[in-house]
Amino acid sequence: MASSSSKDYVFTRDYLDNNRINLQHSLSVQLFGYHIHQSIPTPTGNSSIADVGTGTGKLPSSARLDGLDIFLDAAPLPELLPQNVNLRLWNIKDDVPEDLVGVYDVVHVRFFAFVLQQPDLENVIDNLAKLLKPGGYLQWTDMDVSSIRLEKIKPDIEADAQLTLMKLFQGNEDRLQPAWVPELPELLTRKGFADVESDAKECQPYLALAFHECGLLATEVLARNKEGEKDGVGLLKQVLDQAAKETRHGSNLAFTRYTFIGRKQ
Ligand SMILES: C[S@@+](CC[C@H](N)C(=O)[O-])C[C@H]1O[C@@H](n2cnc3c(N)ncnc32)[C@H](O)[C@@H]1O
Repeated sequence: MASSSSKDYVFTRDYLDNNRINLQHSLSVQLFGYHIHQSIPTPTGNSSIADVGTGTGKLPSSARLDGLDIFLDAAPLPELLPQNVNLRLWNIKDDVPEDLVGVYDVVHVRFFAFVLQQPDLENVIDNLAKLLKPGGYLQWTDMDVSSIRLEKIKPDIEADAQLTLMKLFQGNEDRLQPAWVPELPELLTRKGFADVESDAKECQPYLALAFHECGLLATEVLARNKEGEKDGVGLLKQVLDQAAKETRHGSNLAFTRYTFIGRKQ
């Protein structure tokens, strides 16, 4: 499989992972019930929206839409995009380019829990605020990895591999154990955002299953990215096979997910 995996990013950058990102997008919209939170004024044709860490570049078809990402390998080629959508390379940790300062009505960020670590956050939030016009909104959706738990349809169902998977996944490296997501509202407030809101969502069981199987794919992708690097990858794959079987007998790992919004003053 052609891929451009990277030590800076825990997942592969290939069609398997692109499918995972697209599936996760659909499941998230199903879970939250919106693309843009209802407290954010509906964008008009004159609005500018930035999707930071855009991944596969899934953007709606009105307004000016800029997808910013450290890699654009997952996004469609420019020739395939509608005219209102532009893609641009930008590392969320780097200074905001001059021509993007104060440009956006909405800045959207989603699923950076495995990308950022606690010490990155202050600078990242300052950067996101710089992208916004005064009065513009930041919307950030993420999973709280620290909320991970096992759910079962009956207490006596065997789910040892799911538990092992959970521990292996968490134990592999620091980027896989983020606990900062629930702290974002406090940080946004401290950084001067107004009208900060938090929308916590738990999945219905059928949706938790779909997210879990998407998570199994994420684990498979993670194992591929680490092939040849370390011990433990073989074990991860074995456990993954068993966890997939246990899933079909009625168990899954589950997480709390959040959308946070805040208005730049
Ligand atoms: C898990 S994907 C989420 C994609 C998309 N936001 C979504 O929700 O479907 C994370 C994305 O962040 C991008 N990314 C990773 N590190 C980044 C950085 N330092 N600056 C900007 N984007 C980054 C990756 O290339 C990838 O496209």
